[in-house]
Amino acid sequence: MEKSDLAGNAVTFLHDEGYMAAFEAPAFTDESMVIIGGRPVVDLSGDWRFAIDPFDTGFRQRLFAMPELAPEDRTAPYDWDPFDGDTVPVPSCWNLMRPEWFLYEGGAWYARHVDDPRPAVGRAADQRVVLRVGAANYCARVFLDGVFLGRHLGGSTPFFVDLTARMAGGRHHLLIHVENTRRPDRVPCHHTDWFNYGGLHRDVSLMVLPRDHITDLFVRLVPGQGVVADVLVSDHRRDHVRLRIPSLSLDAQVEVFGGQGRAVFDCAPELWSPETPVLHDVEARWGDDVVRERIGFRTLAVDGSEILLNGAPLRLKGISVHEDDRETGRVTSDADIERRFRHARDLGCNFLRLAHYPHHERVAELADRYGLLLWAEVPVYWAVDYVDAGTRADALNQLSELVRRDRNRASVLTWSIANETPDTDARLAFLSALAARARLLDDTRPLTAACLFNQESRKIEDRLAGLVDIVGINEYFGWYDPDYADLEAILAQYDLGKPLVISEMGADGVAGLRGSAARIFTEEHMAAIYDRQLAILGQAPAVKGISPWLLYDFRTERRQNPYQRGWNRKGLMAEDKQTRKLAFDRLARFYRSDWGA
Ligand code: GCU
Repeated sequence: MEKSDLAGNAVTFLHDEGYMAAFEAPAFTDESMVIIGGRPVVDLSGDWRFAIDPFDTGFRQRLFAMPELAPEDRTAPYDWDPFDGDTVPVPSCWNLMRPEWFLYEGGAWYARHVDDPRPAVGRAADQRVVLRVGAANYCARVFLDGVFLGRHLGGSTPFFVDLTARMAGGRHHLLIHVENTRRPDRVPCHHTDWFNYGGLHRDVSLMVLPRDHITDLFVRLVPGQGVVADVLVSDHRRDHVRLRIPSLSLDAQVEVFGGQGRAVFDCAPELWSPETPVLHDVEARWGDDVVRERIGFRTLAVDGSEILLNGAPLRLKGISVHEDDRETGRVTSDADIERRFRHARDLGCNFLRLAHYPHHERVAELADRYGLLLWAEVPVYWAVDYVDAGTRADALNQLSELVRRDRNRASVLTWSIANETPDTDARLAFLSALAARARLLDDTRPLTAACLFNQESRKIEDRLAGLVDIVGINEYFGWYDPDYADLEAILAQYDLGKPLVISEMGADGVAGLRGSAARIFTEEHMAAIYDRQLAILGQAPAVKGISPWLLYDFRTERRQNPYQRGWNRKGLMAEDKQTRKLAFDRLARFYRSDWGA
């Protein structure tokens, strides 16, 4: 029977099914977030040691605590060596690293050495070292030099770990365990229509911060008030933070006490809009710390059934997008994002629905610059466990991390708190908590969700519509539902007095499969559905926005018929992100028509 020097005798690690109990807390949450704000980071991208661990042997045998030795110097047998073995690039999704890992769902270990990035001499004692993980799907556990530091839940938002206390100069060993197991109590739950990529799929870096530093800065234009600045700092003493916005000739002190401060400035900044994406340099300085952001000032409001941007009614000419790539999975890049924006522009879009989870922070940063509006969303999708308190805490934290990460981004028009969720009391309570949290963290943006419509009454009676400011509905008349008359009835009977956005519509079509419009999965069949849909939606006064499903074909394990073979084929373009289908031009023509004029 095997013996593990680290985990005691064989019985200890083979028969103890409580082995994970020691690795469930503390939790890294939005409370430990630190705004980057242009501060230097040490990029930890590159090759990391990597091993899958489907039976959690690394935990059972406590291999995470193995001392570093050259392989030839090891004397006791072991199943995995955190200091040796295969490597994968970070960021990446393990599914695409090896064919045998394509559908792997479970835990895996990432490991590398890191050097204390603080200068060897000088004020190192006053500086803090914070690990920033851009995203890890789904659950990440962080170890430094074999010591467990904590756990993060949520596959698409950043988390932060203060390493200062354990990083006393020199070289250290960083270990991150990531597991992507789908579970009914997670967010999303165990059943989705997108691929369950696993791994460290966004950048990992170290931030060096002054001991006293700015942890968050939220600056926005609030109607009736002016420019409102919230500053959060690491120390609770009474002090002042200097805030400068040169374009507004603003150079002011924001008093902080108890770790936070707010100031309101009566300014009239040049406004941001998709047509004029004006960004202002904003700088906050506190002691040795400087945070810089480029911020677009604009006002958003919902007035009856209209969405107002800077006081003017909006028509959202959108398209839905997943964060998915044939070669890189969930890993994106500026080039990938800018290509997505170019294709959206070719459609005539001013709006992107970022489905169904927080996309990379670069999307909103670049949308600020290029002038696109965004629907940002947390993956409260389908049958989430609306009763489980842990599930609710997980969802609340993912929402908080998304809002705090992106609330300075002018391009983010709305926070979506759900997609196609069942209208039950438990779900209503769950989403009421999410809506309250979003409004607490952000006093400027309307909330939305993809709500349900009642197939019998052909009305939107979903109680979720009462929680949000913009009502979204996903409808697939012509594809899943045959009768377009039902769509016409839903739109004609719409009486909620709020803006209505068609957050999904569309159909599968295989690029290159040509034939009769009567044959499903042909491009002609898909285009004919767009023709009928757009003719109806274009005539419905209630519809203030459309984001058809979707720009590119994307991976999904559940779609296995011969036309799909692991891909959802509703993209207006194929997964090569080059081949356009007939329906692409149908939508482009509609958006260039006088719809909404
Ligand atoms: C749903 C869901 C999408 C899904 C789409 C489809 O509306 O929101 O995530 O991919 O339908 O069936 O293709």
